[in-house]
Amino acid sequence: MKPVDYVHGYSAHESRRLGDQADTLAELLHAGTAYPPGSKVLEVGCGVGAQTVHLVAASPQARFTAVDISADSLAAARARVTADRPRASVTWHQADLFDLPFPEATFDHVFVCFVLEHLADPQRALTALRRVLRPGGTLTVIEGDHGSAFFHPDSADAHAAIGCQVRLQRAAGGNALLGRQLHPLLTTAGYQGVTVRPHPVYADRSRPPLVEGFTRNTFITMIESVREDALAAGLTTPEAFDRGVTDLYRTAGEDGTFHYTFFKAVAVNPDWPPSPRASR
Ligand SMILES: C[S@@+](CC[C@H](N)C(=O)[O-])C[C@H]1O[C@@H](n2cnc3c(N)ncnc32)[C@H](O)[C@@H]1O
Repeated sequence: MKPVDYVHGYSAHESRRLGDQADTLAELLHAGTAYPPGSKVLEVGCGVGAQTVHLVAASPQARFTAVDISADSLAAARARVTADRPRASVTWHQADLFDLPFPEATFDHVFVCFVLEHLADPQRALTALRRVLRPGGTLTVIEGDHGSAFFHPDSADAHAAIGCQVRLQRAAGGNALLGRQLHPLLTTAGYQGVTVRPHPVYADRSRPPLVEGFTRNTFITMIESVREDALAAGLTTPEAFDRGVTDLYRTAGEDGTFHYTFFKAVAVNPDWPPSPRASR
């Protein structure tokens, strides 16, 4: 099974970035996500386990299954979680989320973070996940939305550099503006009781851990990493892209501020197979 060709890639650099992102945002993203003892939880697209360690910490007695399409990421995830939580109950599977090797209604809960934004058909993915989620079970989805990035000092060059990332992700079949679409996506995929909450991150010099962990190490690092691809695709020039990144670093400086919003959805699977009335 080949890892998907997705915009962030599978480098050691990206693995570190995912870890910084998850650790910095753990409280923000995982607040309210705790699963009962003994419940069976599937994490889809676990990557290098950056979110898995936080899931396990919040629900130490739940029984987790983590899947990813990349064997290397899965091995890194297993090593990370074993080192951090040696007693955690996690089983690992290399699998494509569109073709999961589990019977119907295997899981009580499903958790998906920063995966749908890399898929050409996120709605089909959400429908496929209903098959393995028991009726009455919950799905939790977390996604960002690069359209929510605004900052001081404002800069057209910085917005243009972010725009390169958005266009490259679209060219790779994904959507970096997916957060705002979670409610319609989940509803159309047949979920019920859909609630979506925005989780804004705001960093200024009074919050040094967020400036370092989010503005610099998560967001700007992600934009910087697409420089060569953006140049190769003819989306920008070296000078323009570098000006944009320099301006982004100003937002992490003494008088800079940075805002971004994540979206977290929780929904219930009413049934499987979908009843004709509920499916749309
Ligand atoms: C941006 S990473 C997010 C990893 C992790 N959820 C996190 O928040 O740190 C996206 C992950 O989704 C996985 N992925 C993409 N398409 C997949 C598919 N069709 N089936 C399973 N995993 C997939 C990728 O291999 C990658 O590890």
